Amino acid sequence: MLRNDPHVGAPRSRVDGPAKVTGAAPYAAEFNTPGLLHGYVVGSAIAKGKIASIDVAAAEALPGVVAVFSHKKRPAGAWRAAKYRDDVGPPGKPLRPLYNADIHYSGQPIALVVAESFEIARYAASLVKVSYRAEAHDTDFRASRGRAANPSRKRNGIPAPAGPEGDAEKAQRAAPFKIAGEYRIATEHHNPMEPHATTVVYDGGKLTIHDKIQGVTNSLGYVTRVFGLREEDVRVFSPFVGGGFGSGLRPHHQLFLAVMAALGLKRSVRVELTRDQMFPFVHRPETLNLVSLGADHDGRLAAMRHEAIGATSRIEEHQEAVVNWSSLLYAPPAFDLGYKLAPLDIPTPGDMRAPGAPLGVFAIESAMDELAEAMGMDPLALRLRNYAERDENEDAPFTSKELRACYQVGAERFGWSRRNPVPGSLREGRERVGLGMATGVWDAQVTTTSARAVLDAGGRLEVATATADIGTGTYTILTQIAADALGLELEEVTTNLADSTLPKAPVQGGSWTAASAGAAVQAACRALAKRLLSQAGAVPGKPLAGLSIDDVRFVGGRIESREDPAKSATLKAIMAAAELDRLEAEETVRPNPLTLARYSSYTHSAVFAEVRVDDELGQVRVTRIVSAIAAGRILNPKTARSQIIGGVVWGIGMSLHEETLTDHKLGRFMNHNLAEYHVPANADIHDIDVIFVDERDERTSPMGVKGLGEIGIVGTAAAIANAIHNATGRRFRSLPITPDKVMRP
Ligand code: MOS
Repeated sequence: MLRNDPHVGAPRSRVDGPAKVTGAAPYAAEFNTPGLLHGYVVGSAIAKGKIASIDVAAAEALPGVVAVFSHKKRPAGAWRAAKYRDDVGPPGKPLRPLYNADIHYSGQPIALVVAESFEIARYAASLVKVSYRAEAHDTDFRASRGRAANPSRKRNGIPAPAGPEGDAEKAQRAAPFKIAGEYRIATEHHNPMEPHATTVVYDGGKLTIHDKIQGVTNSLGYVTRVFGLREEDVRVFSPFVGGGFGSGLRPHHQLFLAVMAALGLKRSVRVELTRDQMFPFVHRPETLNLVSLGADHDGRLAAMRHEAIGATSRIEEHQEAVVNWSSLLYAPPAFDLGYKLAPLDIPTPGDMRAPGAPLGVFAIESAMDELAEAMGMDPLALRLRNYAERDENEDAPFTSKELRACYQVGAERFGWSRRNPVPGSLREGRERVGLGMATGVWDAQVTTTSARAVLDAGGRLEVATATADIGTGTYTILTQIAADALGLELEEVTTNLADSTLPKAPVQGGSWTAASAGAAVQAACRALAKRLLSQAGAVPGKPLAGLSIDDVRFVGGRIESREDPAKSATLKAIMAAAELDRLEAEETVRPNPLTLARYSSYTHSAVFAEVRVDDELGQVRVTRIVSAIAAGRILNPKTARSQIIGGVVWGIGMSLHEETLTDHKLGRFMNHNLAEYHVPANADIHDIDVIFVDERDERTSPMGVKGLGEIGIVGTAAAIANAIHNATGRRFRSLPITPDKVMRP
């Protein structure tokens, strides 16, 4: 690498990689402190009703047990449900752990055993005897369809269904070509490598909290509201997060329980969940899509109807954006969209990578494939025929949309032209080979984010913001941006994140962090650069005299005149001459109101899949995926590619493997472990080819970045289902497409 090469745009390795692979990076359950106690959660055995009695005598008598908390015995905390609301939660009454005897779902935390060791706490938890007054529960989503209703209150940030536009029913009746279908996606569970955990270090009334969370600010607000603490007495950290994907957006019960126990016992406490305890927890809601499409003879859509029904809990109305993508992608002249919720006696569902989009897009992109087949038209040609040049949902132009380039470049790389439209026509050995494609789309957003930049006398730069890096590469891209801004090497920059005392940032989610924190870090570094230049007059000989920020460049640890590079001074020399120990600047970046008012901004993808379907075993192998992405400027092709690969792998899991099954008699998720809930393993993953098409976007964010943490999963399942149809001639409208479904005649 040349010293003067810019880092932004270059495929740099993760700056936090060595710490992670050597185990030096500490996670929430790895912060140790003398006298640390361990809590183990007892979960409800019934799905609905009341706790009749809870007998903790045997557990309390066990040597090493310090306390057993339950609704009968817990330290004071807020009682109003509103205090338990957090920055991103849906409308409703959030769970108040150990608040009273009411049971809302199976596995609901009802007691916490605190002991000298995790093992003692876990054993003692098995000695807690609970009797219940059970009431009839309902966990059956399919049977609940008839009582699905519109959300009573809107969730912040989730748009209501667009339209209606025209008379979709009439247009559908009149259309010469039409299809209709029901598309179902199973309940899916989060299985990040790191299960949820919180370590609370208690220090004379002050709490230091190491939480598995995607935003320390969210945990801080929750803890201070619920327990009536002052912000200056609580500090939350989550410097490393072993996978978030949405599971760590909201503060969860392990945080509540650990803080409650620490305050009650005036001791340091850790509460760690086991893998099976992750299941009565955040999950992607089971969702049903009802879609009908009508088209004219030339392939132009005449009518679109798309209604989705999602599962939610009885206590909160979880909502996500499922249906709007359909009219956004194809702008039909008549459309009717709807979104309903079916409340069940289950834990509140939560956000999971691109919440809503992979579900609705699976439906619409399967339906488009069906329509193309019905018309004898190439599926890609049908998409191009109905390509939306504007956002007709919002009646606004796009800031940029290079989806056409995604289709073109992706098709070429994949070899789409070799697809035979006659299903089942390609066979190799006992496998049938099929090719399919689909479109992906996701939001491109900027959120209000602050960052600080500090230069020390030795010429080292530190940048800091409260946002997290949940494995996306945030440490790395922020380091790259900061290094370029002051002409430094990556090794000369330290990036600090995920500490609630740092400049404010929202949760890391929604694919907005690169655009938002990136711009904030760049702005802080620019402000720092100006301040430094203004101090340059102290350098003997005044080499930079009279030069403004536009006349100089920062390179190789120096500021030099653009016109005459001989006129320069090192950052260190300026700091020394001005007798500065440190120089700092802080800036805040906000969404641009003009862009928000006038434009729509999205990322797009074209996904191509090749599958092989074993006739005798019903097994599907996804042997090739090409994912062509338009996401604005790519800050680091290496970490960006790994985001898309991760999303594609999850798309494969969604299409073929992932499904949480409920025993409706018990009202409980049954396959609550990694043996029976199958996530893709290495053997399931073959060739994944990621392409970033050139997309210039001057409006979405200051750096031209759109974000790409989520787009990789959107569309992948539809491309795979469409490929399976091309291989077998059979249409699978219910995910996952497991061997038993493929084998069924
Ligand atoms: Mo993502 S589901 O916004 O963490």
